[in-house]
Amino acid sequence: MTANWTPSTWRDLPIQQVPFYPDAEALSGVEDQLRNSPPLVFAGEARNLKSALADVAAGNGFLLQGGDCAESFAEFHPDNIRDTFKVLLQMAVALTFGAACPIVKVGRMAGQFAKPRSAPTETIDGVELPSYRGDIINGIEFDEASRTPDPQRILRAYNQAASSLNLLRAFAQGGFADLGRVQSWNNDFVADSPQGHRYSEMAERIQEALSFMEACGLTPDRVPQMRETEFYTSHEALLLPYEQAMTRVDSTTGDWYDTSAHMLWIGDRTRQPDHAHVEFLRGVKNPIGMKCGPSLDPEELIRLLDILNPANEAGRVTLIARFGAEKVEEGLPPLIRAIEREGRHVVWSCDPMHGNTIKASSGYKTRPFDHILSEVKAFFAVHRAEGTHAGGVHFEMTGRDVTECMGGAQAISADDLSDRYHTHCDPRLNASQSLELAFLIAEQLRVERGETARAQAAQ
Ligand code: PEP
Ligand code: CO
Repeated sequence: MTANWTPSTWRDLPIQQVPFYPDAEALSGVEDQLRNSPPLVFAGEARNLKSALADVAAGNGFLLQGGDCAESFAEFHPDNIRDTFKVLLQMAVALTFGAACPIVKVGRMAGQFAKPRSAPTETIDGVELPSYRGDIINGIEFDEASRTPDPQRILRAYNQAASSLNLLRAFAQGGFADLGRVQSWNNDFVADSPQGHRYSEMAERIQEALSFMEACGLTPDRVPQMRETEFYTSHEALLLPYEQAMTRVDSTTGDWYDTSAHMLWIGDRTRQPDHAHVEFLRGVKNPIGMKCGPSLDPEELIRLLDILNPANEAGRVTLIARFGAEKVEEGLPPLIRAIEREGRHVVWSCDPMHGNTIKASSGYKTRPFDHILSEVKAFFAVHRAEGTHAGGVHFEMTGRDVTECMGGAQAISADDLSDRYHTHCDPRLNASQSLELAFLIAEQLRVERGETARAQAAQ
């Protein structure tokens, strides 16, 4: 057990990004109800993910973590879950096939509701109201009733997460993810795009390989990895009353686990070493992520690891670098060097989204796809230069045919953004852009693996 820690010790510390609930009694009623509700995930599953991430930290494997910026009540639909899951499967296949590398799949799904904001209030036409903080807290409509934090929303988010996770488990394990169906994961609107064609060609080659394996007697009945997949969930552990209520003692180990998701991460705005969010996450045994932006200095990073992972357990911490395409080459190496100097075991992942957000001339918040790709390339280049493993990518996407990020093979322009701009928060990659990103990562991984093999042969 972690010293001087309980699921509620965060309450004595300063906290950022906290919503104000006018009805405190209603909030504590909801917390009681949640405490008596079933866990969403199990400790053993979180441990399996940790062990898969430990392999990634050791250079063997790659973390693919993606999904919504903010899940919403309005976009909740089985087709949306299915389409996002399909695209994540497509990306994973492109990486496994293209780079011959095991892929750990983690969704920003089934619980990714709460959002940090740059300002606590928003003013429109002289009216000032609390900022929208995600559907688990308040509503996006600009009126006083919607913007007032409502504890009942927490229960609705919990129920939505439970039923999303139920469907994801069925997809992952019930035959949908069978490799024999690799062609069917191409969404209709992507099939005709250059990325769709590229995917289709790859799927044909996979089908050939599968036929060959089947002829040799390796069938999905005998090799479960061919017919099902491991899929994990994650979200930012921002709304601590919710996370605390979902935290339970695991009966097999006696350790505390936050059962709201397999993996939780700390955002770039809430990672102060002596504040509430770091305090809460230090005590749960799940694998955790931490966003690392330009304001993080190497000494502070080590101090945070001392708090969050004192035993230096591999797979416990994933560092998610989100510098922006312009800053990553300068900002990332000092952090990597500090980690290497101190011998810390971490997974290095790249979030090429949050440092590349701009306002388009049409007024929409967007991200230029070429900046996203540049940040990923620079991330890989930095790791090659430092001799460390580029271990993963963290991105915001949807399986829907949205127009939120500019560029890509469809060449979405500033004027096109208004066509299908649906996000409740940040602009997401659509299915075609996500596939394009996956093909780029596969190429980068191939280069890294080629260099590692050459270095080993030369020894
Ligand atoms: C996010 O991942 O949605 C997010 C808010 O990121 P960051 O904390 O890196 O800004
Ligand atoms: Co976001």
